[in-house]
Amino acid sequence: MTVKNFAWSPGAPLPGIEPHSERKLEVVRRYLDVYFDTVASIPHMDRLNIAIVDGFCGGGQYQRGTTVLPGSPLIILDAVREAQERLSRDRRKPFEIAATFHFVDAARDHLEHLRGVIAAAGYADKLGSSIQLYHGEFAAHLPEIMAKIAATQRKGRSIFLLDQFGYLDVPMDSIRSIFGKFPRAEVLLTFSIDAMLNYLSTSRAASETLAQFGVDRDFIAAWEANKNDVEFGRITAQRAVMTHLRNNSRALFFTPFMLFSQASGRMMMFAHLSQHQAARDKMLGVHWEFQNRFAHIGRGSLFELGFDARLLEDKGSLFQFTEQDRATMMRELHDELPGKVMGMLGAGSISLQELSKRRLRPTFQQA
Ligand SMILES: C[S@@+](CC[C@H](N)C(=O)[O-])C[C@H]1O[C@@H](n2cnc3c(N)ncnc32)[C@H](O)[C@@H]1O
Repeated sequence: MTVKNFAWSPGAPLPGIEPHSERKLEVVRRYLDVYFDTVASIPHMDRLNIAIVDGFCGGGQYQRGTTVLPGSPLIILDAVREAQERLSRDRRKPFEIAATFHFVDAARDHLEHLRGVIAAAGYADKLGSSIQLYHGEFAAHLPEIMAKIAATQRKGRSIFLLDQFGYLDVPMDSIRSIFGKFPRAEVLLTFSIDAMLNYLSTSRAASETLAQFGVDRDFIAAWEANKNDVEFGRITAQRAVMTHLRNNSRALFFTPFMLFSQASGRMMMFAHLSQHQAARDKMLGVHWEFQNRFAHIGRGSLFELGFDARLLEDKGSLFQFTEQDRATMMRELHDELPGKVMGMLGAGSISLQELSKRRLRPTFQQA
């Protein structure tokens, strides 16, 4: 029996999972491991407060052949439990990750399925206390969740996984309010850019909803003009949307990667947003580990966004995290970085952290 993608109900067969979604979940899991190892690297630290929000949590499990695979909520719960065990091993006092989990889904059946999965995985005692399930739309529950986080943590250390179906369910307002309030928040966002571009192929009307992603009349005209040159039209449109998303998110660091769905033939963006260079570097490290499975649109060197004159000239190519890309990136850095650094130095010195911030600030402030 074929089960619809992302459809769960208690007692019914599990949905399958596409390879690109599986990759995305592998990256989420690996990122959480790296995250906890990094933030808890101070040996005398014995407690970490954190909130993890899965805004589009789904039903918790998938079926691939005879194997049952965990969905994002289980991945999150297991990553926290294992990080606590791993980090306690080398310490004199046990290490506690005081995590609260906020799982939201608009489909009641999905949440009920998830409730069973969580209980069966050994977390039943946490349901209703540190694990909260919310039925309804993510954007509607966000203020309540943020108030709960703010009540216990001033800087709001939190990770938001926003794994929407398409591109309409995470309004930019939601992301802006997260970064406006919580300097320690990080967001992992999926955004089906190709689904949006396909929509524009049939409906050319600009709208308020699309305007928040930078899709205005000029954008649509440029997309119309370029869309038959499939690769080029899509890449430039994708880059324009990404630039807009970053500039309107309030996040200082925005690192997008593209996942390709074989089944739909569509590109899906998976982006990491944060206010900290270190966080971005950790995510980049994870992408290098998974090289060849992701593509970053644009050049490697400074992972810049926006239209790039060279892309217009030679139509650029996807950065694939291969050895060849690494070599090109090193060459570009070698050629370009000294000039950029000299331009920013003036008469003084500049730290690496300040350098990367200043590279990004001008575009960010235009928003
Ligand atoms: C792509 S699936 C999530 C998969 C899950 N993150 C995982 O990796 O296992 C998207 C989920 O979002 C839910 N959903 C759709 N619109 C929503 C909204 N506006 N707010 C919250 N959940 C929504 C759907 O019911 C579905 O379960």
